[in-house]
Amino acid sequence: MPLVTSKEMFKKAYEGGYAIGAFNVNNMEIVQGITEAAKEVNAPLILQVSAGARKYANHTYLMKLIEAAIIETGLPICVHLDHGDTFELCKSCIDGGFTSVMIDGSHHSFEDNIKLTKQVVDYAHDKGVTVEGELGRLAGIEDAVNVSEEDAAFTDPDQVEEFVQRTGVDSLAIAIGTSHGAFKFKGEAKLRFDILEEIQKRLPGFPIVLHGASSVMPEYVEMINKFGGNMPGAKGVPEEMLRQAAKMAVCKINIDSDLRLALTGSIRKYFAENPSHFDPRQYLGPARTAIKEIVKHKLINVLGCDGKA
Ligand code: G3H
Ligand code: 13P
Ligand code: ZN
Repeated sequence: MPLVTSKEMFKKAYEGGYAIGAFNVNNMEIVQGITEAAKEVNAPLILQVSAGARKYANHTYLMKLIEAAIIETGLPICVHLDHGDTFELCKSCIDGGFTSVMIDGSHHSFEDNIKLTKQVVDYAHDKGVTVEGELGRLAGIEDAVNVSEEDAAFTDPDQVEEFVQRTGVDSLAIAIGTSHGAFKFKGEAKLRFDILEEIQKRLPGFPIVLHGASSVMPEYVEMINKFGGNMPGAKGVPEEMLRQAAKMAVCKINIDSDLRLALTGSIRKYFAENPSHFDPRQYLGPARTAIKEIVKHKLINVLGCDGKA
């Protein structure tokens, strides 16, 4: 099975009322943990790479790890650029074999976002690569941008048809109250399902993407806090809300922080219990298993994409 684009995956997900998990990858253990989980439950996958991941691990290393995962699992896997911020970065990923890219023009004006997104779409579609755009701004931190809560903005449903029509994007990331990182809500968790519903009405059959969708699972936050960490107030998106979104127009759900927390919690615990150990395999092995377990849980209980590969 070669790498696939997101096109067919999203069509089936929309019709089937489930979502594809888009998990961020940065090293071998993360790729293995995610793909072993997907293999066990026969789920399609999007493995996404941020500019920071590409800088950290190198484009070729990540591509080869993903190619190895395809050989080992035989699953349909899409390799996607997460939060591309320039045409040049998107072009470089497309030329380097990615089957999908995100151009995140959400920090620009509406017109500039359209212009930049269309430039990427024209290049990508010519090479058979799918493109995700973004309208609305999520709070939180990504590589280059730190969006404060005051600067975050929900997606305006009045803009989505024009944006999709003028850019030709294949999917659209929207802002309905999620945010990146481990501190998503100060008080009660709230998502604007009314906005999602309105967007779904304006764009019937069109795949919507939810960023910032980690649940910040309490067991891992507790593990981190118990073994020397300090993350008071960490809070994510309740899983029932993600399940609800997956049954609606949301076809791609982005999860990174949950994997980071599982990995970090597991390593902290290992060192607290084995302070004299120093063989990386001894602490990275359980960390990989923690990622596998969390991804399996997401695929089955949150995304509903088990058995859909
Ligand atoms: O949306 C951001 C993702 O969690 C990727 O994070 O830019 O630190 O690799 P990163
Ligand atoms: P989380 O920080 O909630 O995992 O979001 C990840 C994400 O949106 C990657 O693009
Ligand atoms: Zn994101």
